[in-house]
Amino acid sequence: YLETQAASSRNSGGVEEEYADNIDWNNLGFGLMPTDYMYVIKCGADEEFKQGQLSRYGNIELSPSAGVLNYGQGLFEGTKAYRREDERLFLFRPQQNAIRMQIGAERMCMPSPSTQLFVDAVKRTVLANRRWIPPPGKGSLYVRPILFGSGPILGLAPASEYTFLVFASPVGNYFKEGTAPLNLYVEDEFHRSARGGAGGVKSITNYAPVLKSLSGARNRGFSDVLYLDSVNKRYIEEVSSCNVFILKGNVLSTPATNGTILKGITRNSIIEIAPDLGYQVEERPIPVEELLDAEEVFCTGTAVGVAPVGSITYKGNRIEYKMSNQLVCLQLYSRLMGIQRGSIEDKRGWIVEI
Ligand code: COI
Repeated sequence: YLETQAASSRNSGGVEEEYADNIDWNNLGFGLMPTDYMYVIKCGADEEFKQGQLSRYGNIELSPSAGVLNYGQGLFEGTKAYRREDERLFLFRPQQNAIRMQIGAERMCMPSPSTQLFVDAVKRTVLANRRWIPPPGKGSLYVRPILFGSGPILGLAPASEYTFLVFASPVGNYFKEGTAPLNLYVEDEFHRSARGGAGGVKSITNYAPVLKSLSGARNRGFSDVLYLDSVNKRYIEEVSSCNVFILKGNVLSTPATNGTILKGITRNSIIEIAPDLGYQVEERPIPVEELLDAEEVFCTGTAVGVAPVGSITYKGNRIEYKMSNQLVCLQLYSRLMGIQRGSIEDKRGWIVEI
């Protein structure tokens, strides 16, 4: 199978490199492309995860009464592996994903893999699927670690067994718009999360409830939905699949995380690098009216990257933002990508070579 699917090409160093066959690397979107291997490990409720194993990517067997299927006891993560011109492979801050999974697991009453085990599992999954990592500059291998209650349960309680699984898929742009500006719709009926809920962790239960707003908005031609806080219905929170920033003068603002907003790794990275470009950053509650006089609005996320917003529609009024190649968010993104791709010095030790 591997042999018939693989095509050979030579990289600049003359080293033979295999790529998966019949893939249009220039037009990768964010659809699932099954790869060769996944990493799986199980443990009991009171045990620790130990070294797992790679197996062929494929369906898994699950009890109909598994905790994840019945009570949504599950978390997911997302990180990307990049190929550089010299064929070296890199990850971006994977330890942060591991730590976020540990915090989420504590919230969802699950054991979690150690940071070392998590990063090792991601590396092994990437290496096993190496031929699916797009050529340099064409995209990345999106790695999806998941942790869920796989033990059977009937009464509401934590499951007796847990599975940590890592799979991967090559990806390009998240939105079908490609790199075109996003048109957001402000949802004022449904909320993504509430104080005391699980909105601040990457619980699978945060995502299905946004599908109704998201599908409705997409059917009406919007790219995604911007949610408001559930108490005042006035402060912007996050978009279905990413965080949000606004720019006014030399101040970048993003909603403060108070348990209802996911602490995105791209969000945190933008907060850290913005001062390098002379921008001040504020994490604070942002009233929806501030969108009216923002100079730029943009989204950040692992899957999304940094995406400029072209318009926001709130209560029937559409606010349009000026677009140009000089947008601050594009400068920040190019700095971030420079660090990820190796053209800008990685002063903070964010890059992990595989
Ligand atoms: C990511 O950005 O990696 C995410 O997990 C968001 C997901 C909805 C695609």
